[in-house]
Amino acid sequence: MVNRRSFAAGLACAAVMSPQGSRAATSMTYAEAVRTTWAPLRPDEGVHGIVRYATLAANSHNTQPWRFTLGPESIVIAPDVSRRCPAVDPDDHHIYVSLGCAAENLVHAAAALGLRTTLRFDAGAVVADIERAPAQVSALFAAIPNRQSTRAAYDGRPVSNDLLRSLEQAGSGEGVTVLLVTDRQQMQRLTDYVVEGNTLQMRDPKFMEELKAWMRFNESEAVATMDGLFSRTSGNPALPRWLARPLLPFVFTERGENDKYRACIESSAGLAVFVADRDDKPHWVEVGRACQRFALQATALGLKNAFVNQPIEIPDLRRQLATYLSLGRRLPDLVMRFGAGPELPRSLRRPVAAVIAQGR
Ligand SMILES: Cc1cc2nc3c(=O)[nH]c(=O)nc-3n(C[C@H](O)[C@H](O)[C@H](O)COP(=O)(O)O)c2cc1C
Repeated sequence: MVNRRSFAAGLACAAVMSPQGSRAATSMTYAEAVRTTWAPLRPDEGVHGIVRYATLAANSHNTQPWRFTLGPESIVIAPDVSRRCPAVDPDDHHIYVSLGCAAENLVHAAAALGLRTTLRFDAGAVVADIERAPAQVSALFAAIPNRQSTRAAYDGRPVSNDLLRSLEQAGSGEGVTVLLVTDRQQMQRLTDYVVEGNTLQMRDPKFMEELKAWMRFNESEAVATMDGLFSRTSGNPALPRWLARPLLPFVFTERGENDKYRACIESSAGLAVFVADRDDKPHWVEVGRACQRFALQATALGLKNAFVNQPIEIPDLRRQLATYLSLGRRLPDLVMRFGAGPELPRSLRRPVAAVIAQGR
């Protein structure tokens, strides 16, 4: 097990040196907030740095639905139920996937700082037991500050079989399979599910109200909360709230969004569907780990990725998609697209101090 003194020393050091703790979020510009959020991990950040890297993971609506509890020989990642999204995620599926994404980053960040982690699921939380080990700086670790969910059109070019194989390997996990779909006709059929899901969601007032609550229309809103979906991360302009809210029904339309999804998927090299053996919390965490590994591997290979998860979020469509994919009793858990594309503006993360719990 980890040497308690050095683990604790790391914590003390991080308390002083954590870059996110050094300045109040609201006094930063967006550019400063991006630099602070995505800064490369420094060894002197200690355990707080490992937690910061965990929070750089993909997570639903950028709600950052996690609380980290630091023990002498473990880090517990528990759901932050105050950040639930009952309209899009009534059973907390996406929360547990998000915890899995964070856990995957945590494993690579801890390894880079000379800590080996063993993950287990216990009492509704992910527990990372930690022990000292030789430091291991992996390609996936290096990709953590470069990964993003890139909601842009890609360049339409296919990805070689070699790269597909490494994506498939990265996206597979314990009890989790990833199906890579690159056949254009099959991609077209999956696009129909995405568009149908998006149409149903955009007609659902509860879904739309919840989504709007997490929208950040300009840089100062994004920096004020350091969470949520900042307009420019989806390729949209930044506008003052007084203008953005009344304009939204005219610019954020069912037809416009569906056309965008069709064009974006057509411009992608392929789609990835993540499927767990069982539909329960431990498997949802594993799905999160697998999709985060997939995204990091894609990033390491110079590829972009984005979620197109609408068919999963409507129970009927999820079952129909399972039938189309001949999944038997299994259900699809996530849909992502991938390919080569541009970089978009970055999403932000709350400071580490805001996600560390005082005790479990
Ligand atoms: C379970 C889950 C579901 C998601 N679903 C969608 C989605 O349907 N559409 C989308 O654009 N992004 C989706 N995302 C991506 C998040 O919005 C994104 O990770 C978050 O805004 C942070 O941005 P980043 O990934 O660029 O750091 C999803 C992420 C997770 C973990």
